[in-house]
Amino acid sequence: MDRNFIIRLMLLLGVALQGESAKLPSFLKVCYRDSPNLNTCARQSFEALRPRLMEGIPELFIPSMEPLVVPQVKMDQDSGAIYLHSVYRNVKVTGISKHSVNELRLEPSKLKFIVSLTFPKLHMESAYSIKGKIMMMPLLGDGHCQVDLINITMRTELIGQEYQKDGANYLKMNEVNVKYELSDVKIHLDNLFNGDKALGDRMNEFLNENWKALAEEVRPLMTRALKDILSSSVDKLFSSFSYDVLLPKGKGK
Ligand SMILES: *[C@@H]1O[C@H](CO)[C@@H](O)[C@H](O)[C@H]1NC(C)=O
Repeated sequence: MDRNFIIRLMLLLGVALQGESAKLPSFLKVCYRDSPNLNTCARQSFEALRPRLMEGIPELFIPSMEPLVVPQVKMDQDSGAIYLHSVYRNVKVTGISKHSVNELRLEPSKLKFIVSLTFPKLHMESAYSIKGKIMMMPLLGDGHCQVDLINITMRTELIGQEYQKDGANYLKMNEVNVKYELSDVKIHLDNLFNGDKALGDRMNEFLNENWKALAEEVRPLMTRALKDILSSSVDKLFSSFSYDVLLPKGKGK
């Protein structure tokens, strides 16, 4: 059979199945909006979901987390203390499954959802291309890079707004705020300065010695990138499932 035909058929089926009242997958423990134990329930639900979460849950638009593969991250800045144009392709992040949960709080009255996680170590590898100037030093390279983030705590706050679609209540996340703190960073960029090994070694040394100042300089770019990565999953999740399905009204059983 014609390949295009199959793809079209699958798309049609997908649209038909979505319908107006998409149901949550049955393995999800449902929590009730007005339950006095909402946050305990949310935490239990998250814990129960964790193994699947790491494999990815296509029904909930959650990609595989171990490893998490991001096709492309762009970080560009032309103003302020840094001038940086960089692209990271095929970014592979490992270590996400080894997190601990510091905080998981749902505040339905404010349509606010907070999650704070600590990752002992996140390892990232990607192809990179960088051109710019950072802390007064020219930076130029194109190759493979590895970054280790040690003891990173990431707090994400979502603030939504209700709207009507097909006669049901949905949420749209107006704010996706991401904040992070970390204890150490190890960076290695291959093939800096067109493969000049001496210059490249010196730059890597410089980057590792100055990681703290550097991390502050790229914080707005990192935050923006994290926000974009999170938003794409979050937007799909909330536009596919109504609020009443995600977090039903009532106190529960
Ligand atoms: C990890 O970072 C937090 C701050 O975000 C800090 O309080 C804690 O002491 C750090 N732990 C280690 C093992 O470095």
